[in-house]
Amino acid sequence: MEGSDNRSGYSYEGIKAVNSEQWTVNSKTIIKTENTTKIFNKGKPDEVIAVNGLSIEISKGDFVVFKGPSGSGKTTLLSLIGCMSRPTSGRVIVGNRDVSRLPERFMTEVRRGTFGFIFQQFHLIKGITVCDNVMLPLYPTDVKPLRLRKMAEEILNSLNMKERKDFYVRKLSGGEQQRTAIARALINNPEIILADEPTAHLDTHLSDEFLAIMRKLNKQGKTIVIATHDPLVYEKDYVTLCIEMRDGRVRKMN
Ligand SMILES: Nc1ncnc2c1ncn2[C@@H]1O[C@H](COP(=O)(O)OP(=O)(O)OP(=O)(O)O)[C@@H](O)[C@H]1O
Ligand SMILES: [Mg+2]
Repeated sequence: MEGSDNRSGYSYEGIKAVNSEQWTVNSKTIIKTENTTKIFNKGKPDEVIAVNGLSIEISKGDFVVFKGPSGSGKTTLLSLIGCMSRPTSGRVIVGNRDVSRLPERFMTEVRRGTFGFIFQQFHLIKGITVCDNVMLPLYPTDVKPLRLRKMAEEILNSLNMKERKDFYVRKLSGGEQQRTAIARALINNPEIILADEPTAHLDTHLSDEFLAIMRKLNKQGKTIVIATHDPLVYEKDYVTLCIEMRDGRVRKMN
């Protein structure tokens, strides 16, 4: 897809300049954390060790679940992997690149070039149309507005949302909002989809519909990572890696 047109090679402090398309060619591993720790409010009375010396490895094409009780560190781990925050110590590697200490500008570039995000509450903007919501992650962009709109429409078509593309989000059903959120996560043709409790507010039918779309994307080669409490998700036989967390550590992996 042409959403990747504006990705450029760059270098910073000796980090090798590579295009995002090249990041993973030499390795099956797409995400790796090495002894990664995230501490909030470090040194203060309310210090929390949200992720504690955690080492995991995710291969390209995996369908991964992070499960575990509330507060076990699932969302924090997703945000570290998705370049939305930096670890306090240890490393986070995306493709063959250490993203742990990248300056914000480069973090943003990796984030945009690699990940699609789906959140529990969808976080759609209610006062604009479906199509405009889907286009949002690529603003500002070098892609011409008409081209970008066409890309968004193609993705919406593939999710059976053709008839709804010019609707305001507030007029959509729950399932349509969900598919809009998925379309928005796909606009940059991401290699990796990160979803945080995506089925928490959905009934069984919509949860199954969501999972069927994730399964299809996974079969197309995308790596899927979902944080969830929902057995409907983690009991699926196509989950290739289930990481159970407790107190910021891996309790069990299978
Ligand atoms: N920005 C923050 N500032 C301070 N503490 C935080 C912050 N974000 C998370 N925490 C704390 O870190 C720990 C892990 O939180 P996290 O949100 O990663 O858990 P979770 O497994 O996603 O929980 P849930 O299932 O409820 O979503 C919790 O104790 C939480 O209170
Ligand atoms: Mg969470």
